[in-house]
Amino acid sequence: MLEMITAIIKPHQLESVKEALLSAGVEGMTVTEVRGFGRQRGKTENFRGSEYKIDFVPKIRLEVVVSAESTEHLVTVIGNAARTGKIGDGKVWTTPVGHLLRVRTGEMGIEAI
Ligand SMILES: Nc1ncnc2c1ncn2[C@@H]1O[C@H](COP(=O)(O)OP(=O)(O)OP(=O)(O)O)[C@@H](O)[C@H]1O
Ligand SMILES: [Mg+2]
Repeated sequence: MLEMITAIIKPHQLESVKEALLSAGVEGMTVTEVRGFGRQRGKTENFRGSEYKIDFVPKIRLEVVVSAESTEHLVTVIGNAARTGKIGDGKVWTTPVGHLLRVRTGEMGIEAI
């Protein structure tokens, strides 16, 4: 069984999360620059923001497809590496993955990770 871990993290924490995942044996990942807000609606993270407007704050979305057996461990690894203890540290969630194909070799499923 395969799962995708999606993590929304602070851009400054990307290096630390990447290193932690590499140390944990992850072999590939995708990162995207995104913008979002959480419970504070971005306000306390942006002192220039107006009181009434929602401010989207720059974040990194990290995606990694993993074997379901390692999902829980890797979620913990990501959380520990991403945590600063301040607001806006992000969210991590998982979703089931149906098929996975390694395009070059034609391998499918866990072999394709
Ligand atoms: N419910 C959600 N669905 C999708 N993305 C979310 C959700 N909540 C937060 N995010 C994304 O995660 C980023 C960081 O969220 P954030 O850490 O501020 O959550 P929070 O619940 O407000 O926690 P904290 O109180 O620690 O700030 C947001 O900018 C947004 O991109
Ligand atoms: Mg928040």
